[in-house]
Amino acid sequence: MGTERKRNVSLFDDATATGTNNRANGGTSVHGGGVPSYNRWNGRPYTSTYYEILEKRKMLPVWQQKEEFLKMLRENQTLILVGETGCGKSTQIPQFVLEAVELESGDKRKKFMVACTLPRRIAAMSVCRRVANEMDVTIGEEVGYSILFEDCSSEKTVLKYLTDDMLLREATTDPSLERCKVIILDEAHERTLATDVLCGHLKEVLKKRPDLKLVVMSANLEAEKFQSYFVGAPLMKVQGRLHPVEIFYTQEPERDYLEAAIRTVVQIHMCEPPGDILVFLTGEEEIEDVCCKIAKEVRNMGDQVGPVKVVPLYPTLSPAMQQKIYEPAPPPVTEDGPTGRKIVVSTNIAETSLTIDGIVYVIDPGFAKQKFYNPRVRVESLLVSPISKESAQQRSGRAGRTQPGKCFRLYTERSFNNDLQPQTYPEILRSNLANTVLTLKKLGVDDLVHFDFVDPPAPEALMRALEVLNYLGALDDVGKLTKLGGTMSEFPLDPQIAKMLVVSPSFNCSNEILSIAAMLSAPNCFIRPRETLKAADEAKARFGHIDGDHLTLLNVYHAYKQNNEDQSWCNENFVNQRALRFADNMRQQLARIMARSNLRLCSTDFNSRDYYVNIRKAMCAGYFMKVAHLERTGHYLTVKNNQVVHLHPSSCLDNKPEWVIYNEFVLTSRNFIRTVTDVRGEW
Ligand code: CDP
Ligand code: MG
Repeated sequence: MGTERKRNVSLFDDATATGTNNRANGGTSVHGGGVPSYNRWNGRPYTSTYYEILEKRKMLPVWQQKEEFLKMLRENQTLILVGETGCGKSTQIPQFVLEAVELESGDKRKKFMVACTLPRRIAAMSVCRRVANEMDVTIGEEVGYSILFEDCSSEKTVLKYLTDDMLLREATTDPSLERCKVIILDEAHERTLATDVLCGHLKEVLKKRPDLKLVVMSANLEAEKFQSYFVGAPLMKVQGRLHPVEIFYTQEPERDYLEAAIRTVVQIHMCEPPGDILVFLTGEEEIEDVCCKIAKEVRNMGDQVGPVKVVPLYPTLSPAMQQKIYEPAPPPVTEDGPTGRKIVVSTNIAETSLTIDGIVYVIDPGFAKQKFYNPRVRVESLLVSPISKESAQQRSGRAGRTQPGKCFRLYTERSFNNDLQPQTYPEILRSNLANTVLTLKKLGVDDLVHFDFVDPPAPEALMRALEVLNYLGALDDVGKLTKLGGTMSEFPLDPQIAKMLVVSPSFNCSNEILSIAAMLSAPNCFIRPRETLKAADEAKARFGHIDGDHLTLLNVYHAYKQNNEDQSWCNENFVNQRALRFADNMRQQLARIMARSNLRLCSTDFNSRDYYVNIRKAMCAGYFMKVAHLERTGHYLTVKNNQVVHLHPSSCLDNKPEWVIYNEFVLTSRNFIRTVTDVRGEW
């Protein structure tokens, strides 16, 4: 709003190039395919920015095929759309759909909603913000988003971006998703658990609701898989305009990919013509570290090179920081000095979810953090592992968005050809399915074996999940959801942690268990800078609780609150304020679900001997599948699978209690159990 320079646009300008639409709408629109001068959504005159963005939008490849798309949408209940990253799928297609849906429904008061799912929170927010700008409306009104614990939408919302797991959660309360007229599953090629389950669920819903339409969007030809899955759905390909990207490999394998990445950035900055750089790394810590080092190296080179703007990008970054990826490169320091460069260091979010214009150079070390699950030993772990060929191709494509580019792969060509697998396995094949099975049961799926999965998980993984849920009391012996299971499914948590929360009032410690559950969901809160390891470890030891790491986390949380969430207190004590803020927010949200589920918030008297005992007992009630016993040989054996394990070096337990519960099983050179607490056998 603000600068409303009224533009005198002729009502008959044929600038939308669509030809068919623009029926009078609330008296503010026009006829004959012109550019409306009033916003159809709020009746306000369009701002000049609207027209500026519109010109840019019309350059996007999807606009060439708008008519074709709308025709296919009219004629089919389900359709599949493939197009290169950046062609305009996420931002434009939902708006096209909105036009078509609105025209068809005619009656403006009739409730309708276009829902578009994106697997990543940060993409849902960012795309939504962009689309609100494009439509010249306030975010949260006509266009909104909904991600876990953050609903930025209202009664007015007609286009909603949500993470796929949020739509799945909505489906558990409203299985046929009555409010939606069109559902768009974006980034289907990511093959996340939630998108896969939604596919199976929606396939059924579409049979019952002929008025519902589904658009499945994907950045690559995995689409053919969806085409055979949704029988009869036509495939539309958006003709991309990718510029050629020259690919370079290293001669020898790199020993340290971080060091190699920094070196490559510096070389590009010194020797290559202008153009921004995108570096793919695996996680927050690594990214922050590399960002600092790049900035330092460039500073050391003085003014013989141009200025740089180094921007990190990872999921837990604040929205304001995320926006920085769209800022332009810095201008030269002096008028005829060397040009500046923007350097984005990102997780694989930037692979297909977010488009950053102006990238000319991509650096791909070939790794990403991926989830693995071994049902035999029931271990799910997040491991830094080699990406697939398909990912590598997507990454290099990011260099050719606006002009010919270069991609530097920090591995050998031989390794690309021989070592990388062709595609990334879908998440459903490498996850612990306990949570998914609980959701499916809530959706009313009784027969899991015959559920129409895009790729069916191993029967063993399903059996394990059913077994855990049965032990936890979420499913009865014939596999039906129990009342307890229903309550557990309200919490967006691992079922074992959900169980511990649900039972905590009966141990008179739900306040404390809430804090522990929130801390377990947050990123690691302990910082260990390499330069000050000793001081950091001493700081951590001060929070240490003699009975274990869960209680240590509780101590940290309490101390953080007692010190008024103070930043300098966090710095002095080597704890990550962002992680604690996350935990605090998580705790509030979980408390809300507790209240909704009629679960009492209570505590045992802190001075009572039972204070910690009760907490540990409540934890046992959720964690009894994750117990290890100290053997005479001096190592631990997991009770469930008789695996030899060791206490993780980060644990504050130094006395090796007889029985412990653990949060995580970590596979490295040895089997470790991490976040461990001392319990009694009889509990
Ligand atoms: O989904 P897809 O990868 O096909 O593309 P998109 O996300 O719809 O992005 C299309 C274009 O919109 C990008 O090339 C950007 O130029 C622009 N865009 C932007 O400027 N700011 C955003 N937050 C998102 C998109
Ligand atoms: Mg997209």
